[in-house]
Amino acid sequence: MCILVLSWRAYITDFLRVMDMETIKQYEEFIMPISKGMDPFVVESAEGATIKDTEGRTYIDCFSGLSVINVGHRNPHVIEAIKKQLEKHLHCCSYVYYLQTVGELAEKLAEITPEGLKKSFFSNSGAEAVEGAMKLARKYTGKKEFISLTYSFHGRTFGALTLTGQKKYKNKMGPFLTGVTYADAPYCFRCKYRLEYPECDLECARSLERIIGTTSSGDVAGMFIEPVLGEGGIIHPPDGEYFRIIHEILKENDSLFIVDEVQTGFGRCGRMFASEIWDLKPDIMPLAKGIAGGLPLGAFIAKEEIADAFESGDHLSTFGGNPVSCAAALGNIKALKEDGLIENSKKIGEFFKNELLELKEKYPVVGDVRGKGLMIGVELAEQHTKKPLVDLADKVKNKMREDGILIGKGGYYNCTLRFQPPLVITKEQVECAISSLDKSLKKYT
Ligand SMILES: Cc1ncc(COP(=O)(O)O)c(C=O)c1O
Repeated sequence: MCILVLSWRAYITDFLRVMDMETIKQYEEFIMPISKGMDPFVVESAEGATIKDTEGRTYIDCFSGLSVINVGHRNPHVIEAIKKQLEKHLHCCSYVYYLQTVGELAEKLAEITPEGLKKSFFSNSGAEAVEGAMKLARKYTGKKEFISLTYSFHGRTFGALTLTGQKKYKNKMGPFLTGVTYADAPYCFRCKYRLEYPECDLECARSLERIIGTTSSGDVAGMFIEPVLGEGGIIHPPDGEYFRIIHEILKENDSLFIVDEVQTGFGRCGRMFASEIWDLKPDIMPLAKGIAGGLPLGAFIAKEEIADAFESGDHLSTFGGNPVSCAAALGNIKALKEDGLIENSKKIGEFFKNELLELKEKYPVVGDVRGKGLMIGVELAEQHTKKPLVDLADKVKNKMREDGILIGKGGYYNCTLRFQPPLVITKEQVECAISSLDKSLKKYT
């Protein structure tokens, strides 16, 4: 089965080779060097959980672009919705006219997001959604400061970058906003307090009170929190009380609970939203990535009372809420619901994680395996000392790519392999990925 998927095309035409070199040359000459050293290939086409390059090689995509293509590349529901919309209109500023597709998507988001969330604003990206949520939180509360988590990631614009709790994204980019402080991420594998759950009594959550008391002026508009920290290395708390404690402390301080589901939403974690796993009731929720089957779209949805703090002109985006993207988002939700993709995320996710846990038993360099649904991290670190194995992570990622498996890598220590495939991935494709990881670990350890 693996051989079929990983096979090279029988021949490579000169024409495709020329195209390939041309694109690489164009990127090197005319595009800012943001992927330098990453050895990218040129994509010919993509379908479901696979990507084909211009040399005819097929890869199993275990990273969904950047955790975007939850419903699979070129999902038929998404394509159909886009085609229908193309027959109508491509753009009419959604704040001057009312657009049916935009209204329909807003109502749908109110239906599928956690109870209480009702009114949306549409942006183009996750970072923009986070920025908008910051503005709304300030406007509603009349307060100015924010809290986020260490190891977090919220985007690369200045507000979102300020919230981000990792220096590698901020290097030489400051100064940042004032009035942002960082609470303890629930990083059990590297617990700041050197405690173990449940004996720790969730000190990382309880410490929020002290952090507000000692590092803010008390004027906290809200706290941004990822239910599963994606760029931080797939970090999440145990199934218990972490978020309930955090939310209680925020309520006591009249601060908003802002749950950033940009990466965890739309089936990624085995539920429509990861909030459902811990029964979270956010005040505001930024969304993007898996929202529109690959088209650019972001949103933040808020409780009605909070959303209504915005007055006309307080916030706007020229392209935000583009009707083609909104149509794609409606097709995306249809695909998630009608094709059983959320169930698949849960079921295949469990299978994937169990297989990875078996590798943890086999290789002492697999420090930790964690995640929810099809958002799984494998931290390569010595089990005994927890020493991060950064070189090994690079080698394994490269070897897996040679085998035709695309994965992500990240975390504060850059040693967490990230498995976030399209939710349409099959058991056989997961087995290929596991077999490649197994071989790679064997080769390098
Ligand atoms: C949790 C979270 N928030 C915000 C963002 C920023 O999204 P975008 O890259 O669309 O601006 C990301 C991107 O990785 C993310 O993971």
